[in-house]
Amino acid sequence: IGKHVVYEKSVSSTQEIAHRLAREKVAEGTIVVADEQVGGKGRLGRAWFSPIGTGIWMSMILKPKIPPQRAPQLTLLAAVAVIRGIHAATGLHCDIKWPNDILLKGKKLVGILTEMQADPDQIHSVIIGIGINVNQKNFPDEIKEIATSLSLEKGEDVNRALVMQSIMAEFEQLYELFLKDGFLPIKQMWEAHATTIGRRITARTVSGAIEGFAKGITEDGVLLLEDDFGTIHKIYSADIDF
Ligand code: BTN
Repeated sequence: IGKHVVYEKSVSSTQEIAHRLAREKVAEGTIVVADEQVGGKGRLGRAWFSPIGTGIWMSMILKPKIPPQRAPQLTLLAAVAVIRGIHAATGLHCDIKWPNDILLKGKKLVGILTEMQADPDQIHSVIIGIGINVNQKNFPDEIKEIATSLSLEKGEDVNRALVMQSIMAEFEQLYELFLKDGFLPIKQMWEAHATTIGRRITARTVSGAIEGFAKGITEDGVLLLEDDFGTIHKIYSADIDF
């Protein structure tokens, strides 16, 4: 992972470039990283604020030989790698909010966006986009209350290259473990870092809000929510409130 790094100053989105490179059949583990994204993409069609020189905006191209249904497991793997990498590089402890937000003291530090190119029975490539707020000192009004950066917590600037290297090292280890032993060990690490699990939450889905107790995740990363009548709901996509 990260043996080939494609570095760009300013791009629309590193996801778009990674998709193009993947179609052109670059090596697995190739990473696209940019100093600035002018069209950064978030989950659910949202925009991702990616100002110049302050964050890590990167997309990783993977070509795992696993069934397409298992691709979401790689998002969870990436979350664990990011948390461990940030801890190794800065000493800061972050936690995971299902499905893939990484929070520092309750505010969003990292977003992960996984996309794939696949046929029904075969993955061509999985593109994992990771956006990390590193040295921002302030955020636009719309996200000021909910976003944070590593430097805001540390009180000093943080070396972006170091954080990125340390995340890549963790990712590589976990990815090897995943290919060898499957998802279970990763799932356990993920659950240990996830504040969502084991507490009362509200899941706001497109078809309405469900309140209940977050029991855990399935093999596919689906959230299991038990409501007050004891019914277990499988949550595929939602925003979570505590
Ligand atoms: C989220 O909504 O939480 C996911 C945000 C993902 C942002 C990253 S930044 C690098 C990559 N390129 C993009 O356009 N998006 C992802």
